[in-house]
Amino acid sequence: MASENTRAVGVDIGGTGIKAAIVDLATGTLRSDRVKVATPQGAEPKDVLAAVLQVLEKLDVLEDAIPLGVAFPAIIKSGRTLSAANVSKNWVGFEAEKFFEDGLGRDIHFANDADVAGVAEMRYGAARSVRGLTILTTLGTGIGTAMIYNGVLIPNSELGHLQRAEHASDFEAYAAYSAMERDALDWEAWSERLQHYYSHLEFLFTPDLFIVGGGVSKHADSFLPLLNLNTPIVPAIHRNNAGIIGAAALALD
Ligand code: BGC
Repeated sequence: MASENTRAVGVDIGGTGIKAAIVDLATGTLRSDRVKVATPQGAEPKDVLAAVLQVLEKLDVLEDAIPLGVAFPAIIKSGRTLSAANVSKNWVGFEAEKFFEDGLGRDIHFANDADVAGVAEMRYGAARSVRGLTILTTLGTGIGTAMIYNGVLIPNSELGHLQRAEHASDFEAYAAYSAMERDALDWEAWSERLQHYYSHLEFLFTPDLFIVGGGVSKHADSFLPLLNLNTPIVPAIHRNNAGIIGAAALALD
């Protein structure tokens, strides 16, 4: 049982699902079942808030004073959501942190979903003690990125929205896991798209390590060996729980 002062709740709001768990921050491990509900159709603020209340209720922490971190799939600056790629456009310029705090009746720590996954991997996972530049990418409904330089997170990097040269779309639309599903690609065909993406990132940033997170990272053996890069590329140790763990970790800071 984790001691009271190392426990926090992490809620990871994604374009498709909202996941949460109680996390032991001494070890970076889950101390409860992982609960999940579908992201409401249209992902309007009031519906997302209701879904967050639902996962907290399932975890039985609604009335608990336990620190709470919430991760969200958008640019977040001073508690405001400044973009909305896979959620309602009503989040753009919205005072989201305050909205959640009012609706939940408690303080939260609020940050970008990929950034918190990066924090989790930096503290408890694949980026631990890595020097130089680590780029974590989450491949899911969208592509999220976290840039970590010598243990310091550079927030809101949004490298999933890099534009593809001579194409109308960005890399997220082309190479996210949702693109694999949408276009019914097999691992080889999807890997070709990932190759373009990671080669481009490599050219722009010359990182020391790539980490691949998101639900599909549990199938890393099916696609990472197909990539040909100069930079080491590894799955997130915490797989799809990195967002939950990182959100919780920041809540306790
Ligand atoms: C959003 C990012 C987010 C990523 C993963 C992108 O569409 O712009 O903020 O981190 O999806 O959810």
